[in-house]
Parts: sequence; structure tokens; C-alpha cells
Amino acid sequence: MDDSRQTTSTPAEDRFSLDDRLPADYFSTTLHADVRRGLGGRPRTLPPKWFYDKRGSDLFEQITRLPEYYPTRAEQEILERRAPEIAQLTRAATLIELGSGSSRKTRLLLDALTAGGTLRRYAPLDVSAAALEEAGRAICRDYPDLRVTATVADFEGGLALSDEPGPRLLAFLGSTIGNFDQSQRAAFYRMLALELTSDDVLLLGADLVKEPEVLVRAYDDAAGVTAEFDKNVLHVLNRELGADFDPDAYDHVAVWNTEQERIEMHLRARRAQTVKIPDLDLSVDFAEGEDLRTELSCKFRRESLTAELKAGGFTVRHWWTDTARRFALLLVVPI
Ligand code: AVJ
Repeated sequence: MDDSRQTTSTPAEDRFSLDDRLPADYFSTTLHADVRRGLGGRPRTLPPKWFYDKRGSDLFEQITRLPEYYPTRAEQEILERRAPEIAQLTRAATLIELGSGSSRKTRLLLDALTAGGTLRRYAPLDVSAAALEEAGRAICRDYPDLRVTATVADFEGGLALSDEPGPRLLAFLGSTIGNFDQSQRAAFYRMLALELTSDDVLLLGADLVKEPEVLVRAYDDAAGVTAEFDKNVLHVLNRELGADFDPDAYDHVAVWNTEQERIEMHLRARRAQTVKIPDLDLSVDFAEGEDLRTELSCKFRRESLTAELKAGGFTVRHWWTDTARRFALLLVVPI
């Protein structure tokens, strides 16, 4: 075999870097504040980000494969069809991904941008160093010319962008935007408007309003995986805060809120109970049938989503859906 034509590429470990921007006490400080605020008020709530420990992330992976949970497959279908177009339109040198999640969807973008010849860097941002480490290194191995600069950060405070080559494509997929209520979304757009330049493009995945039965089934599957996922947050509080939640004493409920057009996941107390949370010096009473709201999953319509993006300083350039029109992928630019 003729070795003389082999090009030397930088070894994978030299193309990967991980920058941890979270303060050392980030998890305990944020968890304490979130639980105190959420369980102290009424209705009782917890932010969805605390679902995702190792077990919670595994359960979410299982959810994405459930027959009832269509969003992942619908978004995948759009990306499969549109990735080449996205690469052509953006000619992105950097793909930044917020809450990097499943790398299957990421790879569709990386493949198209690599084929287009413009991509030099992949910059995933997540609060989980372990997830970034695992996914980042695998991507380095499979894309021999790519630099992967992972950042451990909570993007609510900003994107922690540094020297990424532009144009930059910022992907926020999976309809994670739906976990924000309207005022959180407005704050998110304000943050993005500060961080993005006129060269940058936002790729946004958004689940759409549809028949309530379809939506409720997607969040209350027959196999009970979503119920386990929902209750996992109680396991997290038990482990991290010494709480004594009995997960079996709650029912998982998925409700379609017609007015706000969002799915709400609740844990409903099967009987009156008192939960002790020693690390917070807190004791929380639940009445029989009282709900703890664990997640909002807002569903969108073209007109109102376009309008709120416009109010936030962005123009929708492309609106693509899957053939069944369940999900939308938007290419959005600063005004
Ligand atoms: C992809 C994180 C936005 O709201 O659909 C799935 C999470 N919760 N089943 C969603 C989730 C219950 C999910 N996100």
C-alpha cells in the first residue's frame, strides 16, 4: 500500500477541549434555591432541569424512542431533508449547540456542514460535563478535521462565546424552548440578541399545537416511561437534599392547558403527606390530590412564534415542517 499520500490529521485528543465555566458550587446553590422557591410557593413547582441526572437522561433517551413520543422523530425527519439546505444557506464555520442532547440530530448537521466544506468547529454547551465529554470525544473521532470546544455552562446567564470562527450556526433543538414560559422565552431572546452578530443564524426546533389527545399521549405513554422520568426528580431530591419523598405516593399526570397551549406534567399526591427536606430545613405538606408541577412543554403556532421572535429582535427566514406538520424547524436571523 502506498503510504505517501496519507495526510496527517491532528489526533482526536488534541482537537477536543472542555471549558468548565460553572462555579464549583453551582449545582448545590442552584438546586437549593430552585427547590426552596418551587416547593415554598403555590402551585408547587420544580424546574425541569433537575430531571436529568444519569438515570433521568437514560429515561429521556427511552422516551425519544416511544411510539407515542413523536417530536424527536419529526424533528429528525426535517433535519434529514433540510440539513444540506441549512449548510448551503448558512455556510457556517462553527456549529454551536445549546443543551447538546442526542448527537444523532447533531450529526445530520455536522455531516451536511462538513460536506459543504465550511465547518471547522463544533461548540456544544451543556450543564453536564460528563455528557459533553462523552459526546464531544466521539464526534472528534468521527470528524477528523473538526475542533470540538465544549463549554460547561448554564446558558441562562449568556452563551460564554469566545473565539469561534464565523459565521456561526446556533442550534437549539428538541423544542427545549417549550420548557420556557412566555417571559422566560422573552429573556432568552434578549440574551441571544446580545450574543449573536448579524453573521450568525439560529436554528430552532419547536413542537406545534395539535390534537390534545396526541399531545397528552406523548407525555403519558402506555409503558409508563414518562411517569418514571417525571418521578425521577423526586429521587434526585431524595439523594441530593436528603428528602424523604415516596415516589409511589404520587401519580404522574399530563394535562393539556388549552388557554396557554401547553402540556403540563404534574405529580399528584395520592394522599395527604408531609415531606421533610433536611438540607433545606424544610417541611412541605401536600394535601390529597395536590399537584407538584414539574414541567411545561409549550406548543407553538407559526404566527405567534414568528411574532414573539420579531418582538425579541429576530426574523424567521425559513419555517420547515415534517410531512405530518407536527413539528417545525426554523432558521432565524437577527433583524
Ligand atoms: C425535549 C426537553 C423539551 O418537553 O418534550 C419529554 C422533555 N418531558 N417527555 C419535552 C420531555 C417529557 C422534552 N424536551
